[in-house]
Amino acid sequence: MRENTVPAVDAAFTQLNMAGRVAIITGAGSGIGATTAVLLAARGAAVIVADISAAGCEATTEQIRRDGGSATPIVVDMTDESDVRATIDLAVSTYGGLHAAFNNAGIGSKGAPLTDMPLEDWQHMISVNLTSIFLCLKHQIRHMKNQGGGAIVNTASGAGVVGFPNVIDYVAAKHGVVGLTRAAAIDYAGHGIRVNAVLPGGIETPMLTSAMGKDEIVRSAVVRGHPIGRLGQSLEIAEAAAWLLSDAASFVTGSAMAVDGGYTCM
Ligand SMILES: NC(=O)c1ccc[n+]([C@@H]2O[C@H](COP(=O)([O-])OP(=O)(O)OC[C@H]3O[C@@H](n4cnc5c(N)ncnc54)[C@H](O)[C@@H]3O)[C@@H](O)[C@H]2O)c1
Repeated sequence: MRENTVPAVDAAFTQLNMAGRVAIITGAGSGIGATTAVLLAARGAAVIVADISAAGCEATTEQIRRDGGSATPIVVDMTDESDVRATIDLAVSTYGGLHAAFNNAGIGSKGAPLTDMPLEDWQHMISVNLTSIFLCLKHQIRHMKNQGGGAIVNTASGAGVVGFPNVIDYVAAKHGVVGLTRAAAIDYAGHGIRVNAVLPGGIETPMLTSAMGKDEIVRSAVVRGHPIGRLGQSLEIAEAAAWLLSDAASFVTGSAMAVDGGYTCM
């Protein structure tokens, strides 16, 4: 008689399902966040669509509702602690809880050598790309501890584990996101809360396309950094984030998952 260590096959088809879950997605008005919000809603989650851009919030919410999903928009600045709290309050008052969070809002660097970087630019980068994640973790984990568990994914970057020229503020902030993820994963694993990071390579979103500009030489240089020979698409990050947020990843915490076409192998 076979030991009962092999799960029923249908588990493979149900563990990605997010029906009955409530998820907050930050930076959900564009790019990776928008696509992840749409994907999670398609898998059954009720989604809080959080972004500083009202137009972005509206567009993502409309798309989810058109597809038959549940979404509620909130225009927030994730560097503001009361705004962060408001996203959780909205999840609880609208849908009755919070099970999953994708902390993804972020900005690109203006780009400058360290020796010329104005302090204000450094501080703004740290505030948007790192302190916002601290604030999200603080309030989401408080709620999830009381609720008995949850799953969180933070968006770092390949630049969270390797250096990149001329964007020292971005590299430092994203390394910080990986550190926050690992430390929080250790501290709250005992509360049933999993905390992971996803590390995108170059993904074709407004952030990257505006940083590259229209110069084909710059674009080819960026592509060459990816052994897979192309840039990524938002959906390729959304799939990883959705997996990490689902029960399919129930033994995964503290990971910094590269989804980068091999960028960080180089
Ligand atoms: N695109 C890439 O190549 C790439 C690579 C590695 C990591 N990332 C990271 O992925 C995340 C998403 O980026 P994207 O490429 O989808 O960019 P994007 O510009 O398309 O989307 C970012 C979203 O975040 C929102 N946002 C910015 N500041 C905010 C704030 N203070 N409060 C709330 N919302 C705010 C913006 O309004 C925008 O809708 C970022 O954290 C970025 O650093 C992107």
